[in-house]
Amino acid sequence: MQQDGHFPVTDANNTARRTALITGASAGIGKCFAEHYAACGHDLILTARRTDRLETLAAQLAADNGITTTVIAGDMADPATPQRLWTEITGRGLTVDVLINNAGYGMTNNFVDYPWTEHRDFIQVMVTAYAELCHLALPGMLERRHGRIINVASLAGLAPGTIGHTLYGASKAFLIKMSESLSLETEGTGVHVTAVNPGFTRSEFHTTAGVQETVDRMPKWMWMQAKDVVAETHAASEAGRATVIPGRANRMTAFILRHVPANLALTLSRRRSAMQDDAAGKA
Ligand SMILES: NC(=O)c1ccc[n+]([C@@H]2O[C@H](COP(=O)([O-])OP(=O)(O)OC[C@H]3O[C@@H](n4cnc5c(N)ncnc54)[C@H](OP(=O)(O)O)[C@@H]3O)[C@@H](O)[C@H]2O)c1
Repeated sequence: MQQDGHFPVTDANNTARRTALITGASAGIGKCFAEHYAACGHDLILTARRTDRLETLAAQLAADNGITTTVIAGDMADPATPQRLWTEITGRGLTVDVLINNAGYGMTNNFVDYPWTEHRDFIQVMVTAYAELCHLALPGMLERRHGRIINVASLAGLAPGTIGHTLYGASKAFLIKMSESLSLETEGTGVHVTAVNPGFTRSEFHTTAGVQETVDRMPKWMWMQAKDVVAETHAASEAGRATVIPGRANRMTAFILRHVPANLALTLSRRRSAMQDDAAGKA
């Protein structure tokens, strides 16, 4: 491994090799995206805050798959990060053929329980950084007439508002709408933009948000493995679909959400939040 986390290409004759930039690659779904695209022969640029994890993963995937991996650490809560990341990528002569916008986390309490700075950071990580990276990546993709963008949204972006998690669903709804628009804008250009809306997926997400115990009470059929989410998403991206909902149970939930009247959906959401508060001993 080189000092900067850049690994040599072991198959120099493979000129058709693509490069995927994956945000939030140090854990969960992002790590699975890295494993999946590496196994498909893509070179990787991995980013997140925990450099040690990224470097271990990068070394492993380079050794296992004979690909080139580059680690560039960054905190997406810093508004300067997307442009700095891009400047480093282009400065190293790298090209992004696949952008996987995935970094994210949850905030569980009610809106006023957090100082504004925490909401500001959240919007930066979950909304602004996603949009800015799309804006940075698209011109090159359009010029080369090839590109894939995957924005990791959530079933929460299709669900009604909740008590707590106030900006989470809103941020994911933003990503869904933005991806749909970009998918239309790029039609026929060789660039595909896809929003993926996973439901409950095994990762570190719920532990980080401090709600693992609560969500562990959810029935098993509601859960997916990250590798299955990733495989369905890759197929949808290649097929040029604007959105994908991985898993039959999640598709069924989305179908119901689409057909329940808005007022009834809010009433159900209020009851569900109250039940969760009871279960967590909050009420
Ligand atoms: N798990 C689910 O049930 C589920 C369902 C629907 C959607 N999603 C979405 O899936 C995406 C990935 O989440 P996950 O489930 O894989 O969670 P995870 O296992 O906790 O991974 C989150 C990733 O995001 C990175 N990240 C968090 N804050 C960051 C920041 N400020 N700057 C840079 N990177 C940051 C983390 O890396 P560092 O901590 O190293 O920075 C980590 O690599 C998120 O967008 C999430 O909203 C998850």
